Amino acid sequence: MTVGSDQGTQGCPPLGTYQEGMDWNPVENVIFHRRSIRSYRKDPLPPGVIRRILEAGRFAPSAGNSQPWLFVVITSPEIIAQMERDALRVVRTFMFLMDYTRSWFRRTFVVHFTKLMTRIFPRLLHPVPFAAMMQMARGEVPVFFEAPAMIVLLKDRRGAADPSLGVGIAGQNMVIAAHSLGVGTCWIGFVRLLCWSRNWFKWKRRLGIGYPYELAEAIVLGWPTERRHGQSPREVLEVPWLEHGADDAPRLERLGE
Ligand SMILES: Cc1cc2nc3c(=O)[nH]c(=O)nc-3n(C[C@H](O)[C@H](O)[C@H](O)COP(=O)(O)O)c2cc1C
Repeated sequence: MTVGSDQGTQGCPPLGTYQEGMDWNPVENVIFHRRSIRSYRKDPLPPGVIRRILEAGRFAPSAGNSQPWLFVVITSPEIIAQMERDALRVVRTFMFLMDYTRSWFRRTFVVHFTKLMTRIFPRLLHPVPFAAMMQMARGEVPVFFEAPAMIVLLKDRRGAADPSLGVGIAGQNMVIAAHSLGVGTCWIGFVRLLCWSRNWFKWKRRLGIGYPYELAEAIVLGWPTERRHGQSPREVLEVPWLEHGADDAPRLERLGE
């Protein structure tokens, strides 16, 4: 069975049942058809729908049930616009310092500085976010997509095991619940650009960030202006499957072929 036939929920098998070869059930359909939405209607989301989405986050599992998260809701267009301005200022400064493609001088000299920074900040300067930041700096792509609402996820450092995992699970619960309600979402890792902003202490105060909480991620949300079909491509995933004796080599299950 291929992932991706967007059949809605009509004719879906009921939840809590399984038969070999059956179609995707409504929960699986929501998982497979959720997409990151980067274009939103301006009208605000009703508070009730945001509350339901938050509840899905609140009920996420976490190590030792330590619930290592706080969620901060922003529905003020003014505040989201301020965050956009501050994040963009940081991106422009980064790119001014690190974009080595703009001139001969930069390709010859600045490239070494950029390589050094890439080593120091390998995750921030991973090629995909780096390319996205170039587009942002050129004004081609916004950071928060002018969404009417945002949920900022804070991580409690005291959480059991790895609290980042708990935050991720809570966030995924929320984006899945949102999609099931027709609300579009997009994770915004770039919210952490604000940590480099000259207004960072102001944001810390406004978002209530202080020990033991730290800024983890954000999710923007709103009514989508368009329905996105299909999926972003995923790599074929080889899953070793140990099904025989302890010394036998695993069978490789190839997902996505
Ligand atoms: C932790 C996390 C952070 C992300 N940050 C951003 C971001 O800052 N900006 C953005 O446009 N997309 C962001 N995304 C969305 C991913 O680009 C997207 O999930 C991925 O390309 C797969 O596409 P899909 O969500 O439509 O399936 C983020 C996703 C995750 C899980």
